Amino acid sequence: MPIVIGCDEAAFDLKEAIKAYLISLGQEVEDMGVYDKSPVLYPDIALKVATAVADGRFERGILICGTGLGMAITANKVPGVRAATCHDVYSAERSRKSNNCQILTMGARVVGVEVAKTVVRAWLASEFEGGGSTAKVQRMIEIDEMFHGKRDASQEGGSCSV
Ligand code: RB5
Repeated sequence: MPIVIGCDEAAFDLKEAIKAYLISLGQEVEDMGVYDKSPVLYPDIALKVATAVADGRFERGILICGTGLGMAITANKVPGVRAATCHDVYSAERSRKSNNCQILTMGARVVGVEVAKTVVRAWLASEFEGGGSTAKVQRMIEIDEMFHGKRDASQEGGSCSV
């Protein structure tokens, strides 16, 4: 399945470099913009990419802005989406293996192209491990649902016993 990618004007160059890198790995890529360095409201791009993932049109997405933070904050507001900002290989691996994140975000003002490529490579190669993380990710999904009308928040109590 193709990976969906998006960025704001601050990250246009890095998005182009990561797109080319993904293609060089044989990965199909759907580019949801931006397509030049004209200013954009980055939440609009995050919304497009996160919605495409939440709808099941794509299993995984990459969002890049200046810091990666605004993209992650926005993407995580879309029900069902787990987005994480990762600028190192360990976090990228854990975001998949432990957190089952579908969206990787990065900051073009934080990492250089070569580091970003190693992060993407590690993230692509990592899958959710399940095991002890299954109940924790399931709890995240339940909490998400409490705030999106699928579950009654007043009936929910947190539990630390895993
Ligand atoms: C520029 O709009 C900058 O705020 C943006 O790229 C990003 O860093 C936000 O989190």
